[in-house]
Amino acid sequence: MPEKIAHIAIAVKDLKAAKELFSKLLGAEAYHEEDVARQRVRTAMFRVGQVTIELLEGTDEGSPVTKFIAKRGEGIHHISLEVRDIEAEIARLRNEGFAFVHDRPEQGANNSRVAFLHPRSTNGVLIEISEHAQPRGR
Ligand code: CO
Repeated sequence: MPEKIAHIAIAVKDLKAAKELFSKLLGAEAYHEEDVARQRVRTAMFRVGQVTIELLEGTDEGSPVTKFIAKRGEGIHHISLEVRDIEAEIARLRNEGFAFVHDRPEQGANNSRVAFLHPRSTNGVLIEISEHAQPRGR
């Protein structure tokens, strides 16, 4: 079962400008930036308490984030729920009747493994489940 909200991801057209804006909004700099080639996104992450706000910019026209913005404009792209065992969670949710965008977990940011539920099975909200690499020395 999901243990917490790992992050809320926001689709943005211009990551550099959005990063500046969110730095002002949150009074802190991004703690992590990464190009996630597999997902065709560039990301900047901010911490707000236990939750991360993740800004996402598509890296090319074929990026799901670029397509999302073309269709719906900038805004909340997905909510990520953290799980301990992603395979077990995919099996549990399939059993409950949820549809997934992909069959298997994919590589996400920060060495996480992620899987997206199809928004048609979750009231139009794209939900990601993510399993995070074991934190070392923390
Ligand atoms: Co995510």
